[in-house]
Amino acid sequence: MTAPETPIPSAAFPADFVWGVATSAFQIEGGASLGGKAPSIWDSFCRVPGAIADASHGDVACDHYHRWEADLDIAQGLGIDAYRFSISWPRVQPAGSGAWNAAGLDFYERLVDGMLQRGLTPYLTLNHWDLPQALQDQGGWGHRDTVHRFVDYARGVARRLGDRVASITTHNEPWVVATLGHENGVFAPGLRDRRLAMQVAHHLLLSHGLALQALRADGSRAQLGIVLNLSPVHAATDAPADQAQARHEDGRLLRWYMDPLFHGRYPQDIVDFLGADAPQIQHGDLDAIAQPLDFLGLNYYTRAVASAQGPWDVAQSGLEVTAMGWEIYPEGLTELLLRLRRDYPVPPLFVTENGGAFDDVVQDGRVHDAARTAYVAAHIAAVAEALRQGVPMAGYMLWSLLDNFEWASGYAKRFGIVHVDFQTQQRTLKDSALWYRGFLQQQQALRASSRAVPVGA
Ligand code: FCB
Repeated sequence: MTAPETPIPSAAFPADFVWGVATSAFQIEGGASLGGKAPSIWDSFCRVPGAIADASHGDVACDHYHRWEADLDIAQGLGIDAYRFSISWPRVQPAGSGAWNAAGLDFYERLVDGMLQRGLTPYLTLNHWDLPQALQDQGGWGHRDTVHRFVDYARGVARRLGDRVASITTHNEPWVVATLGHENGVFAPGLRDRRLAMQVAHHLLLSHGLALQALRADGSRAQLGIVLNLSPVHAATDAPADQAQARHEDGRLLRWYMDPLFHGRYPQDIVDFLGADAPQIQHGDLDAIAQPLDFLGLNYYTRAVASAQGPWDVAQSGLEVTAMGWEIYPEGLTELLLRLRRDYPVPPLFVTENGGAFDDVVQDGRVHDAARTAYVAAHIAAVAEALRQGVPMAGYMLWSLLDNFEWASGYAKRFGIVHVDFQTQQRTLKDSALWYRGFLQQQQALRASSRAVPVGA
């Protein structure tokens, strides 16, 4: 276990700071057609020739559907507080409306109870992208009816599990669903239509707001929120055209989501830019979207660089990159958190995902992934710096517990702190997992000593 290069200030984190790991259903479960589960749009997309880099699919993935107990044992062994996971909608409600699948609900009930038995606090995500294919057949997220189907789904899940989970996230990364799924076509459902993509973004936000209203009306005790993928967008140069491009990309990535959630309006510069591609909004939609949030989750991996000349080549910065080709830029996380606090009335913030893909090799039962450890430590230090500057940080969840199905990259990109041999399903803790475990032991010791301080001392 190598020491990270970035020192993390001791005692930087409050005693109630939540440490965790994150996963998602489609990426780890497998059991694609077991126990009454119907196909999701990702099951379908994996069948499209050329859609997935290694032509793989999620039929088995990490076989977590069968191995969840052992996987939770591993999570518990790390010493984390919280386990972030998602529900596969077509596993619990195969058609996306109407009948519930008892076997699917039972699976998640066992999973949640399994977390609680191991002292892991469940952080549930409702939509981590695997929309029931049956709903896609009726127009998917582009169809306003799907908004109401999502609210019903949210209520059904909360009715069954809401008393035992600490937190419910409506959507994971709506920008990705809208833009990569419906504008660039590189993610499911593989469509390329900007007008549709903006309507999808609106429907995702609206369904988030209506679901929060419904869950609150139902008396939900879980903390309710949403998870966004955000990055600072830097201009490639000081040239006005690059600065303008950076402002534009920030509008589409960050302000398009943050402004309606916190200010009840879409950013006017982007509405103007979209023209006829701007979404159809009905009376009351914006009020519905701007529900108070108990927390906001951020997934942070890298910064973005904008150039008026077209896509920017990371090689130009000379910074180190991960196996995804993403720059390693931990200071961008502090910058982002400070900016959010400056521009929006933010609730407690979680980093709900952060981690890196690296080309790992198992050697004599070990994985010496020093680069991942350094990446994680540097980003935790970036969170510590945001806390020091007064940002209300509530937790950090590492992506990911296990190597898994990395969407269009298939199994080739490994984000886990636990290595998975996809032939044998053998799990091997990487050095980064051992480092995280050691780091969390230190945090526990600090918590214990802070509790030991006598009252009034
Ligand atoms: C995020 C996704 C997550 C994972 C990481 C690497 O965009 O939420 O499922 O694939 O990227």
